[in-house]
Amino acid sequence: MFVSLEGIEGAGKTTILPHLVAFLEARGKACTVTREPGGTDFGRRLRAILLDPAHRDLEPQAELLLYVADRVQHVREVIRPALARGHVVLCDRYMDATVVYQGVARQLGRELILTLHRLVLGDLQPDATLLFDLPAPLGLKRAWRDFDRGERSRRESRFEQEKLAFHEAVRNGYLQLAQREPQRFHIIDAAAEPEAVTRQTLQIMAQLMRLPAV
Ligand code: TMP
Repeated sequence: MFVSLEGIEGAGKTTILPHLVAFLEARGKACTVTREPGGTDFGRRLRAILLDPAHRDLEPQAELLLYVADRVQHVREVIRPALARGHVVLCDRYMDATVVYQGVARQLGRELILTLHRLVLGDLQPDATLLFDLPAPLGLKRAWRDFDRGERSRRESRFEQEKLAFHEAVRNGYLQLAQREPQRFHIIDAAAEPEAVTRQTLQIMAQLMRLPAV
């Protein structure tokens, strides 16, 4: 089972991951937790480049190709082997992020992203995608709070520094993808209190894995 977690900045998907793992492992399910960009040694270097605010003027096409390069390596080194071992793969962002950030918000177009993926990655799609949805101003407020508290390094703030309209486009892009593929997407109200977000997420996971209700 391949599950991706998506959402705008500050949606809380990374915070929820340890809860998901604890829930699944307590029920005998082995998990591999990983993320994009940065799920491999090569990818960690790309992540530092991609999220560094010093690279403000990176061309959208160059940005796109680096995200895809990260993914090609990640799928081969981490995701496919973990799926072959029978693990539940929990991936903090995957291809929907490229469709929405580069395709929609950077305006490169959805078709270009999908074509590129088909060419270099084949057809590996998540079985389920958890979309942590919340208004962009709230997400940004939370993201900047994490930087202010030192919980994240400002060296990773290139996207948070984008204008509000960029983040609104990302949010709407995700909601449109969820409408296109209602079977795969599960929308979680990430504006709720953390306990409520955790509860919603575990309930969805229990349904997906056909485990007893939480
Ligand atoms: P995060 O791992 O902290 O969520 O940060 C990753 C950032 O990279 C986030 O701002 C979204 C962005 N991103 C893209 O623009 N395209 C992609 O394909 C991926 C995976 C992430």
